[in-house]
Order: sequence, then C-alpha cells, then structure tokens
Amino acid sequence: MAFDSASLTPVPTEPVQTAWRRIQTPVPVPESIPVIERLRAVEARSMAGMPPVLWDEAEGFLVRDRFGNQWIDLTSGIVLANAGHAHPKICAAIRAAADGKLLGTYAFPQERRLELLERLAELSPVDDSKAILFSAGTEATEAAMTLMRRHGQTINPGKVGILSFADGYHGRTLGADLAMGSANWMDDYALPFYQIPFPYAPRWPWGDAADDPTGEKAFEQCLKALEANGVRAESIAGFLGEALPGWATWPMPAGFAKALRSWCNAHDILLCCDEVQCGMGRTGRWFGFEQCDLLPDLFTLGKGLTSSVPVSAVVGRADVLDLPNPGEMSSTHGGNPVGVAAALAALDVIEQEELLAASSTTGARVLARLQALQAAYPERILSAHGRGLFISLHFMQAGTRGADVELADAVSREAVRRGVLLFVTGRGFIKFVPPLSIDPEAAMEAAEVICDCVEALA
Ligand SMILES: Cc1ncc(COP(=O)(O)O)c(C=O)c1O
Repeated sequence: MAFDSASLTPVPTEPVQTAWRRIQTPVPVPESIPVIERLRAVEARSMAGMPPVLWDEAEGFLVRDRFGNQWIDLTSGIVLANAGHAHPKICAAIRAAADGKLLGTYAFPQERRLELLERLAELSPVDDSKAILFSAGTEATEAAMTLMRRHGQTINPGKVGILSFADGYHGRTLGADLAMGSANWMDDYALPFYQIPFPYAPRWPWGDAADDPTGEKAFEQCLKALEANGVRAESIAGFLGEALPGWATWPMPAGFAKALRSWCNAHDILLCCDEVQCGMGRTGRWFGFEQCDLLPDLFTLGKGLTSSVPVSAVVGRADVLDLPNPGEMSSTHGGNPVGVAAALAALDVIEQEELLAASSTTGARVLARLQALQAAYPERILSAHGRGLFISLHFMQAGTRGADVELADAVSREAVRRGVLLFVTGRGFIKFVPPLSIDPEAAMEAAEVICDCVEALA
C-alpha cells in the first residue's frame, strides 16, 4: 500500500540502508504527524500536496528528517538546489554577508549587486544585456511581461497581448497565472493572454509528429488557430515560454523555435524565455534556450540562481530593460546583499565544479536506464526523455495514450518509502531533477529504485 500525500496514515516500510538511503520508520513517521497536522492547521491547504516528509536537513543531494531517515533527493527542493543543498561555499557567503552590516539597500547603489549584475550580463548571450534583480521567480515573470507590454505600447497602444504555451508554469501571481491559461476561475478576466500548445512530440497536438520533424508546420498551425480566434499579431506585445517546459522536459523543436523567432521579428513581438526552472545549468547548458538554438530578447532566472535564498532576475536587451523610468520598476528585496552573495557563490560553484558537464554526463546515464525501463513497459510508459538532469518519465494507461496520473503518483510515493525523494506531480509523470552535483552512482541507484517501483506497481 502506498500512502496518499494528503493522508497522514503511516505506511510500514522495509528497512533500507545503503551508502545514501536510510529508511527506518513507517512513512509518514508517526512522530512527525502531530507536527504536520499543526502545520496544516495554520497553513493554506494549497501547501499540502507533497509527500509528508518532515524535512530537517538538506545537504548536497541528500534530505534528512530528524527520525533517522535519509533520502536521495530527486527534487532539488523543486528544481531549486542546482548547486546542491546547503553548499558550504554558498552557506559561507550567506554567513559573511549576514555579518557584513548591510542587510538591505533597496535601489541604493551597492557594489555586491553591481558584481552580480555584471556577471549576469556577461553570461547572457543577448548582446549588451542589462539585468534587474527581484526575489521570486513569479516577480521576474510579472516584470518581463510588463517590459514586453511597455515595449508593445511604444509601437501601438493596443499591443499589450501576451502569448504563451498552454500548460506552462510561470508562477502564482495574477499575471503569471493568466499567462499559464490554467486557471478556469479566472475566465472572467477579459485580458489579452493567449496560449498555443507546446510542440511535445509524444503527444503531438497536430496529428503525427513524424510528419513534421522540425516542428515548423506546427508553428504555422498555431498561427492559424490564433487567427481563427481573432488574435492579431499587431495586438501581441510578447511571447513568454520555457524552451523546455517543466512538465515536458522536452526541448522546443528547432524548426518551431526558428519560426517563432522569425514571427516575433516580423511583428515587433518580444520573445522572453522563462529560465527559472530549466536555466542555471539544469539541462547541461547555462540556459535551456541554448538547447534549441533560440536567442530570446529577454529571459528570467530564479531558483538555481542561488540554489538557496530568494533571488530572481530579468536579463536581456538593454533598450527594453531601460523602458521604465527610474522608480517605475523595482523591488524592496531585489538585490538584497545576502541574496546577491548567495547568487555569486552559486555561480562560482556551478563553474568551479563543472556542473554543466556533470549534468550532461550523469543525465545521459540516467536517461539510458530510464529509456530501457520504457522499452520494458511499452504499454505503460509513453516516454522517458530530457536534457542533462532535467528528465521526466511519462506514464500512460494501458490501451490508450492517456496520462496515468494514478500510476505516476503511486510510483513517486513508493519511491519515497524506499528512500528516493520525488514530488507528486498529479499529471501523469515523474521528474528526475536532482542537484547537478549528485554522485553519479547515487543517481543510478535512484534510477534503479524507480525501475523497481514501476515493476512493483505497473
Ligand atoms: C518555469 C517557472 N517559472 C516561474 C516560476 C515561479 O517561481 P517562484 O515560485 O519563485 O515564484 C517557477 C516555479 O516553479 C517555474 O518553474
């Protein structure tokens, strides 16, 4: 029996003891239940979707509770800790910043913020980039959309629409939610947000993917659908999308990316890539858009930018970043000295520990194992794919290609009972996104556990 993430009934486990995994209690741990119950009593219900593991410490690629259990973390704290949890260099930088008698500066000039902005501008493949810092990824999303709409309005007052991919994720503030097109309860907002399907080959929305290997025709289909719905390019200010959406871990096909870029150029539409999840080395390149030869005008960063405390950014074309007047775009904690120190240290760690290469090589080994699993279960696994350590395994119901949410979530929960931490997606797939610094043998051990769970449950 696998536990339900909402339920707090302990499920017995077999003891597990390896170099990295240690499970010695039922899950959830009976002693943790009163604490989780108290948390649920005071916290909004929306926060209760994860497996009930009471995190006490997270270090490197391991997560521990205070009851003697330890997991290999395949979540990175939801794709946060690219450089590893509590990396000693990041912790030291945070400590030094906290001792430095400068804990907040708002928009006043500050040298450490300068250092991070220069670093981001150097990393950016967009010529003459500028950047601005915020706290949450969703704040970067809002700022990027504001910039694109400001730019659109320099061309015509009605050029304020935002186009994005259906089923994407850009954060939970109102504009970000609208850009995701996911919130039915917001249908009443007659705001100019439009979505097109993401060109995901295993579930190609336009017939047979084999007929359109580069995705160029798919983009034409998207344009036709927009036109049929009365959406004109002149009314669109910007496109916001992930080059590899978090749910798909699938790179935008090159022909689609090229057609999108040309369409944006032809109609003065800005292109912004959301790199909050697929950026900072996750796919084996600094930025996900590099996986599909796409050069955006703007991109957003967050999560792995610090692997720890909240820092996000919008980076890209200086003429666009400079549209708001002094004071019109800012954030109290943006460029906070502690966050900036963490980001600089995280960038150093990614470079010094060669985590882009590690992501590619470890990811390739894991993917080969998961693809072998798929080959063994052709009726239950639709696809195993990804780039670097941005991998997902998609389940389907036998006899149909419909997503098997139950099986995917059951595999996640069973893996947690066996010492491999996965999150429950509720969408028919599991995601393999450990810290990029994971020991390759630990990653393979975790992949084996997933295979065992599938064998037990499929
Ligand atoms: C692709 C993407 N964009 C934006 C966000 C929002 O970031 P935050 O949760 O820091 O607001 C997320 C968070 O998961 C994300 O995955």
